[in-house]
Amino acid sequence: MISFPSSWHVLLFILAMGPRTFALDTYTAAVYEHSVILAKNPLKPVSSEEALKLMDENMDVLEEAIKSAAKQGAHIIVTPEGGIYGFGFTRGTLYPYLEDIPDPQVNWIPCTDPERFGSSPVQKRLSCLARHNSIYVVANIGDKKPCNSTDPKCPGDGHYQYNTDVVFDSDGKLVARYHKFNLFMIEQLQYDSPKEPEPVTFTTPFGKFGLFTCFDVLFHDPAVTLVSKLHVDTILFPTAWINVLPHLTAIEFHSAWAMGMRVNFLASNIHLPSRNMTGSGIYAPDGSRAYYYDLESMNGHLLVAELDSHPSRSPSYLPSVNWSLYATTVETFTQDYNFTGSIFFDEYTFSELHNEAGNLTVCQKDLCCHLNYRMTEKREDERYVLGAFDGLHVVEGEYYLQICTLLKCGSTDLQTCGEAVTTAHTHFDSFSLSGTFSTNYVFPEVLLSGVRLAPGEFQVLSDGRLISQNRTPQPVLTVTLFGRWYEKDPPNSHTHSIIL
Ligand SMILES: *[C@@H]1O[C@H](CO)[C@@H](O)[C@H](O)[C@H]1NC(C)=O
Ligand SMILES: *[C@@H]1O[C@H](CO)[C@@H](O)[C@H](O)[C@H]1NC(C)=O
Ligand SMILES: *[C@@H]1O[C@H](CO)[C@@H](O)[C@H](O)[C@H]1NC(C)=O
Ligand SMILES: *[C@@H]1O[C@H](CO)[C@@H](O)[C@H](O)[C@H]1NC(C)=O
Ligand SMILES: *[C@@H]1O[C@H](CO)[C@@H](O)[C@H](O)[C@H]1NC(C)=O
Repeated sequence: MISFPSSWHVLLFILAMGPRTFALDTYTAAVYEHSVILAKNPLKPVSSEEALKLMDENMDVLEEAIKSAAKQGAHIIVTPEGGIYGFGFTRGTLYPYLEDIPDPQVNWIPCTDPERFGSSPVQKRLSCLARHNSIYVVANIGDKKPCNSTDPKCPGDGHYQYNTDVVFDSDGKLVARYHKFNLFMIEQLQYDSPKEPEPVTFTTPFGKFGLFTCFDVLFHDPAVTLVSKLHVDTILFPTAWINVLPHLTAIEFHSAWAMGMRVNFLASNIHLPSRNMTGSGIYAPDGSRAYYYDLESMNGHLLVAELDSHPSRSPSYLPSVNWSLYATTVETFTQDYNFTGSIFFDEYTFSELHNEAGNLTVCQKDLCCHLNYRMTEKREDERYVLGAFDGLHVVEGEYYLQICTLLKCGSTDLQTCGEAVTTAHTHFDSFSLSGTFSTNYVFPEVLLSGVRLAPGEFQVLSDGRLISQNRTPQPVLTVTLFGRWYEKDPPNSHTHSIIL
């Protein structure tokens, strides 16, 4: 009899702790691609009531997604950048949408104590959605922080306004606040950058998380630091991403970042086909678990999938890669006739894939790209090239790139190589792409006809080769090693000055 009360105590203890205090090997992630309801005219000043009305309309839609995700067992849901009030404001017209978002150290559950930091209806509603559905909720809203002449950088209107990601845990507590560091161009008309990048992390029973926003993914800080120094398991990534083919389509680049950095990556994009905004996904280091890309439908879309809580402990974890090892040791293949062409304003050196199969090298500055390939059939109506780019990209942000790319040209005219193409007919039986990279930050991209990913259909070897030995399930648009040489970025490249 003596054992009965003691095991009863253990049981009570377990019930009191609740299931979420136990470490989980896997968890269920959700991301919602939201068809945001935009302000009719974001340049026109509105009252706080009107601002809240628009935000509530968007949160009504997000609420359905959060409930549905929770019903499907999701532990966390990510919603997009600008998902609550959209974009295109000025500093002044954005102001009524902002709330004072405190440092999470204050230990605050807005759902149960909404007035503690002044009027916070948006934080209260998000906190209650998290609490009532027992799910972590990640959202993007705006923070305002007063300042005055004691701070020489204080803006003329007496406050800073930040593009901010917030996370509420499953009790509704604010556990993370991140101010976007790398603002994209015209965003500087409505937001300030924090003085220093803020590497924000939090831990859960299903792993360590870090977060950053949209354009941040192209830069070293805070994105790379979160992975290489703070060792997060999963990145949370609210975004309002405009697709740019061939290398910067949302699903393509974000899944490549997950693979190159060897982390889970939860990307939630705005759904606005008229502006080429679509593409969300749940990405693991070895490939996409679920993704969505749809320029036809007008509706939002919920993705739910299971992930390892700690991908670095999984048996399928990629070995660390030396991205230049193979390419610097192999003999260069024949350098055929080459020509130049432009991709997203960068001047590439190209060489054509003339034959059904072959070995090709093309070089630019320090970068030589090697390709070994076999097509299923060499078609007369499609042309493919191997391209190399080693240089500073300077349009819509300044960042140094080293890129090796196999891609389909726009037409049979070689001047169209690098143009956006979305369909193809040529399958590849095999390919192996490598480059003499000077950086060890390389993101491997494979994009197939119809703008589709190819999870599980290719792999990266520890010597830096991106290979496939099976016939591609769809024809190939591009196979790319997208390298970022952060050390060569100009200083202060996050303050991308704009001329008004
Ligand atoms: C100016 O701002 C600082 C810190 O933000 C604050 O401590 C101080 O009271 C403010 N001064 C005035 C005159 O408002
Ligand atoms: C969207 O992308 C396609 C192909 O990349 C391009 O032709 C089109 O002009 C873009 N549309 C907008 C609205 O930017
Ligand atoms: C990768 O391999 C090359 C060639 O052997 C070597 O020079 C380089 O130091 C290695 N890079 C890293 C990051 O280990
Ligand atoms: C380009 O082609 C020419 C021959 O036409 C060759 O001599 C040269 O080495 C090639 N350059 C590169 C960078 O591939
Ligand atoms: C490419 O090179 C490899 C090794 O150098 C060789 O075995 C293979 O036959 C070549 N392939 C073609 C199609 O020329």
